[in-house]
Amino acid sequence: MSRSVVVTGASSGIGQATALQLAGAGYEVFATVRSEEKADKLRARAEEEGTRLRTMVLDVTDGARCADVFAEIAGLTGGGPWAVVNNAGTALPGAIEDVDEDQARRLMEVNLHAPARIARLVLPAMRHRGDGRIVNVSSVAARAVMPFAGWYSTSKAGLSALSHALRMEAAPWGVRVVLVEPGFHASPMLENAADAFERRASVSSRYADCYRVASRSLRDSSRYPGPERVARAIHRVLATPRPRARYVLGTDARVGGRLDSLVPYALSDRVKSAATGLSSAAGLEGLLARAGGVHRRP
Ligand SMILES: NC(=O)c1ccc[n+]([C@@H]2O[C@H](COP(=O)([O-])OP(=O)(O)OC[C@H]3O[C@@H](n4cnc5c(N)ncnc54)[C@H](OP(=O)(O)O)[C@@H]3O)[C@@H](O)[C@H]2O)c1
Repeated sequence: MSRSVVVTGASSGIGQATALQLAGAGYEVFATVRSEEKADKLRARAEEEGTRLRTMVLDVTDGARCADVFAEIAGLTGGGPWAVVNNAGTALPGAIEDVDEDQARRLMEVNLHAPARIARLVLPAMRHRGDGRIVNVSSVAARAVMPFAGWYSTSKAGLSALSHALRMEAAPWGVRVVLVEPGFHASPMLENAADAFERRASVSSRYADCYRVASRSLRDSSRYPGPERVARAIHRVLATPRPRARYVLGTDARVGGRLDSLVPYALSDRVKSAATGLSSAAGLEGLLARAGGVHRRP
C-alpha cells in the first residue's frame, strides 16, 4: 500500500510542486488548498501530469476545520496520514514599526501556530503506528535576518525552534520531525511580497524608497530557481529511511545562514543596511533634518 502524505498550501509554488512530485512518485497525496476553485485547478494540473491526488479545502488558521479535515483523512488512511508537509505559509513585508499587531498575529497563526496544531492532530496516530514524518517548511530567513522581513523571520525562527523541540519529543515513538530551510525560490509568495512592499511605499513611511528597492528585487524571479527543487528535496526527506534533522536548500540559504552566524553584527548590519537602501535613506533624512528639520518624515 502506498504511503499517505498531507501537503498544506498546495495551490501554488513549493506546495503545489511538492504535491505533484509526491503524487508522481506514487504517494497517496492529500493536498490542501483554500477554495474549491483552487482544488479543481490542482486536480486538473495533476491529471495533465498523468497523476492523481485528493484535494481538501482548508484554511490552516481555522482550528475547527483543521480537526474536521484531519478526521476525514484519518478515516481514509486507516487512522491518519503517514506524513505531513507543513508548507502553507505567508510573508509579511515591512519594517517592524509599519506592521500592526493584527497583521503580525495573522502571520504567526499561519506560519507558527498552524504547524503546531496540525502536529497535535496527527501525532497520536503516528505514535500508535510507531512511524511517521512531519516536515516543516521554514526558511533561511529564520537564521539570516534582513531589515523589512523581521516578522517573517520571527515566525520562521519560531517554527525552527518548535520543530527542534518536537523532533526530540516525537523521536522515541519513531516519528521523525524534519526542518526544511529553503533560500529564495520563484513562487507567487515573492510576487505577493513585491506587491505588499509597493502598497507600503505608497502610504507615508520613512522607508518608502527602501520598499521600492525591495519590490524591484523580488519581482526579478528569473534570478531564483523554481520550486521544483524544494519539492525534490522534500521527496528525498520522505524517501530516505533516516532523514537528517534539517535541510538547507540553495546556495543563498547555505551562505546567508552561515555568514549571519560568523560575521560580527557590526559588519553584517552595515552590509544589509546598504543593500536594502536603509543606510542611504537614513543618511539623507539625517542630512535634511540637520539642515532645518523641515523634511523629517512622520
Ligand atoms: N519562495 C521562497 O523563496 C521561499 C523561501 C523559503 C521558504 N518558503 C516557504 O515555503 C512555503 C511555501 O511558499 P511558496 O514560496 O511556495 O509561496 P506560495 O506559492 O505563495 O504558497 C503559499 C501557500 O500557502 C497557502 N496559504 C497561505 N495562507 C494560508 C492559510 N491561512 N491556510 C492555508 N493555506 C494558506 C497559499 O494558499 P493561497 O493560494 O490560497 O493563498 C499557498 O498555497 C512557505 O511556508 C514559505 O514561507 C518560501
